[in-house]
Amino acid sequence: MWNGNPAILRLIRAEIKTRGPVSFAWFMQQVLYHPEYGYYSSGRCAIGRRGDYFTNVSVGPLFGHLLAVQFAEIWHRLGKPYNFVIVEQGAHHGDFARDVLESARKHWSDFFAALRYKIVEPFSILQGRQSQTLQAFRDKLEWYDSIDALQPFTGVHFSNELLDAMPVRLIAGGMEKLVDFDGKNLLFVERSVHDSEKFNQAALDWVENVAAKLQSGYILAVDYGKPQSKSQATIQVRAQHRYLDSPFDGIGYADITAHVDWTSIARCAERRGLRLAGFTDQHHFLTGIISEWPGLAQDIGAKTKRALQTLLHPEMLGRSFQVLALGKGVVVAPSLAGFKFAQNSHQTLGI
Ligand SMILES: C[S@@+](CC[C@H](N)C(=O)[O-])C[C@H]1O[C@@H](n2cnc3c(N)ncnc32)[C@H](O)[C@@H]1O
Repeated sequence: MWNGNPAILRLIRAEIKTRGPVSFAWFMQQVLYHPEYGYYSSGRCAIGRRGDYFTNVSVGPLFGHLLAVQFAEIWHRLGKPYNFVIVEQGAHHGDFARDVLESARKHWSDFFAALRYKIVEPFSILQGRQSQTLQAFRDKLEWYDSIDALQPFTGVHFSNELLDAMPVRLIAGGMEKLVDFDGKNLLFVERSVHDSEKFNQAALDWVENVAAKLQSGYILAVDYGKPQSKSQATIQVRAQHRYLDSPFDGIGYADITAHVDWTSIARCAERRGLRLAGFTDQHHFLTGIISEWPGLAQDIGAKTKRALQTLLHPEMLGRSFQVLALGKGVVVAPSLAGFKFAQNSHQTLGI
């Protein structure tokens, strides 16, 4: 067992002493987002070679450059509006935003001129790091603490590995795993439940909130998960490029994520007036985008080729990640470039 942050452990034990066993969602919220000690909110989270894990963004600028192609296509589809907004949530140190903006400036000056980039970032330490990374684009950027604070917008809401970082309850077969303390260690206890469909409420609230702010355009979410999962969240605990055995190891120093249940999110979005505009794995998504960018093959050196392989290869990130697109106020057929090689999304998601 790897010891965690004593301050956050004290806080969790005190809560359990007062109210009894707590839901895993509450536990995850404290461990990742407690204002002082949380893994993300404290700025402790490190991504990349010297950090705890890799993401598409940390592989290099190519991911942002490819997504810029997709954003530019969306801008065209929406009739080239002058105030085209990209909202990014979960922007970490701002690398993805920089890669998108650099690519837009280099390849599509009209699109770049129309572009406004809004980062939803509740944590001031991360806002500070993002603003350093993005100094060259200051006049394009705005920050917001929450989705609620955003004005209604036309454009895209984008996230990479935001949804897997949202708190979940651990429910399966009518039983919920709660977090308890036996006087020495944290441990799981089980209780029967009647609201098992509410295991990923934070993600469902999120899609409702974004739907309410999107006037026309798309939500594009990249993450790893499963279509049609049966209400059991699978969690992963990662630190220093290793998987830890238990969420009670390295509390406050390790990342905890849960596989995204794409079907329930898409279903909830459709109830809120969004239309399913595509669902596929990252391999097919990026291949579709690349097919719209014939110049790419000539542009790239050895480093970018390696990055491309990491993003596309089915045994690297290509199959483990998926992309969901939800549209509002747009004609969703024919599909966006990223989904031109996708199978029927409704069928894949079982809705
Ligand atoms: C796994 S990291 C991914 C970072 C980055 N997108 C990347 O791919 O490298 C998850 C990020 O989501 C952020 N996050 C979680 N909940 C959030 C919320 N409600 N609003 C904004 N950011 C959030 C965390 O602070 C963290 O920076």
